[in-house]
Amino acid sequence: MKWQSSFSTGIKKIDEEHKILVEMLNKLESSMYSDKKDKVLALVLRNLVDYVKFHFKSEEEVMEKIGFPELQRHRKLHKNLVHEVATILLDLKHGRAWSVPELVGFLQHWLMDHILGEDLKIGQYLGVI
Ligand SMILES: [Fe+2]
Ligand SMILES: [Fe+2]
Repeated sequence: MKWQSSFSTGIKKIDEEHKILVEMLNKLESSMYSDKKDKVLALVLRNLVDYVKFHFKSEEEVMEKIGFPELQRHRKLHKNLVHEVATILLDLKHGRAWSVPELVGFLQHWLMDHILGEDLKIGQYLGVI
């Protein structure tokens, strides 16, 4: 998956973090070719979850600062997303075999739907896109 200008919220800090998330997803995708697939996958996924949490917090701080009217709703969406990924991690821990393409596809949709459907509204509210 490649970064496209249509993903941009017009807010530099948020866009930089989104780019890192896209990179991490690409790394996850390439981990399926590794010899130590299971170990690499678990590690990359853990890093991804940590970074997602960091990013959500950082994005919520931006929304607070600019008085974004849908902050509470957006915060709830973030919470649900973290919960969904935490559930996948548990699934993996308990041996449910997610195939990597299935997992990457799921996470790509998850991220892009949120960025395009919700995060862009922040830039629109600010009038920068
Ligand atoms: Fe968001
Ligand atoms: Fe975001």
